[in-house]
Amino acid sequence: MQPLSRRSALILVSVGAAATATGAAGLLWASGEGFQAARGQELEEPQTLRSADGRLQLTLSAALGKVKIAGKDATALSYNGSLPGPTLFLRAGDRLNVTLENRLRDPTNLHVHGLHVSPQGNGDNPLLSVGPGTSLDYEYQLPADHPPGVYWYHPHHHGFVADQIFGGLYGAIVVQDDQPIPTSRERVLVISDISLTPGGRIAAVSVMEKMMGREGNLVLVNGQLNPRLAARPGERERWRVINACTGRHLKLRLDGQSLQLLGLDSGRFRVPAKVDEVLLAPGNRADLLVTAQTGTAVLRALPVDRGSIGPMMGGNGPLRSSAGRSGAVLATFTVAGAPVATLVPVPEQQVPRDLRSEPVAARRELVFAMGMGMGPGTGMMDFTINGKSFDPARVDTTVSAGGVEEWTLRNTSLMDHPVHLHVWPMQVIEQAGLPVDTLRWQDVVNVPARSSVRVRIAFDDFTGKTVYHCHILDHEDAGMMGVIEAR
Ligand code: C2O
Ligand code: CU
Ligand code: CU
Repeated sequence: MQPLSRRSALILVSVGAAATATGAAGLLWASGEGFQAARGQELEEPQTLRSADGRLQLTLSAALGKVKIAGKDATALSYNGSLPGPTLFLRAGDRLNVTLENRLRDPTNLHVHGLHVSPQGNGDNPLLSVGPGTSLDYEYQLPADHPPGVYWYHPHHHGFVADQIFGGLYGAIVVQDDQPIPTSRERVLVISDISLTPGGRIAAVSVMEKMMGREGNLVLVNGQLNPRLAARPGERERWRVINACTGRHLKLRLDGQSLQLLGLDSGRFRVPAKVDEVLLAPGNRADLLVTAQTGTAVLRALPVDRGSIGPMMGGNGPLRSSAGRSGAVLATFTVAGAPVATLVPVPEQQVPRDLRSEPVAARRELVFAMGMGMGPGTGMMDFTINGKSFDPARVDTTVSAGGVEEWTLRNTSLMDHPVHLHVWPMQVIEQAGLPVDTLRWQDVVNVPARSSVRVRIAFDDFTGKTVYHCHILDHEDAGMMGVIEAR
């Protein structure tokens, strides 16, 4: 057993002696519902840390302990005692140093989701393991031309990812624009979900929920339930929204307000795109402009049908969101008072390159499948890519650094799989056989049930091993992940 601080040891005692019997999950969660949450408080934001002179250095300490959730005391996981963890503001060319302290009882590690940085060594390496009671110094060097956008950090230790993110380990990363975008106000909204017991502990998750991809019954914005946001008419707010939910798609609406999308995941559209609704699969981010109009608007996540696990497994009917037909209420935006002067328009943005007109070095197909489980007595289905479940010792895909590849992501199962590739973003060029006529770069691409999506990827700047996987994190933990090596 690794040494633990006194504080962690006390927490372990309070969690209970049966914790050792929970196997891979490692954390004992009592089952049940009914946590007495507070709603309607003013929106708070996590602590903000900004780089200076090209550097940002910080410690993230992952622990189980007392943390505020929905205005009340709960016992959950967090970085540095707050849920979400601190927001990191960076610029292209910066160096980020993070000391990750593991005060959990399970191994963990750190991933900077979406950042275009090296996967080698103590960089963005998802194959590292940081044992309980130990720490590791990570270093990430952002290239000078790193795209602006909204990114995030979270644990990535295979087998523990869903439990650790569901439990509260996540935080935002912003790579700022070179030329600022004129706004009245900027906010970071980290949306996550969790299920708590009446006593404020993380609720147990069934095998069935894991197969479908768990959805918590509390949908939180910056750890709050239905927080209040206020603005004056004419103000232009910038909302950087992250879907940090473990397995929940968010179909976001803010009826009565006018929304424009500056970008999705990383990079920018040439001009902001007017939208009524934004669909974020787990892991996706939106950089939104909200032009405030008098009235009270509710930010909602409408239910999303992401399929079923199939009649064989008892999962008849579509996976229904616990939030009901009108969706989950995420936040309330009240616009009142004297109108403000109209802001200057958003300057035209530099768009990313378009790989549709570039030569392709290789074409591949990745087949995402679910089958009857072979594992003795697990009750779980198999989650595979090209017929194999994750093995960190095997390289599944070898690509030549510098080349452009075209990948067909095929989903043969009855559920959606949001497919994520580390380090290199994907340009979506075809969906269900139809060409995409806009420039769409994403690092998580939802592949609907029994459908396929075609993407192009430029394997620029870095070599080394990293992973691609389904961002329904229970599916990833169940094996729907592969190793890629660029060399
Ligand atoms: Cu957001 Cu591989 O992860
Ligand atoms: Cu990632
Ligand atoms: Cu999946």
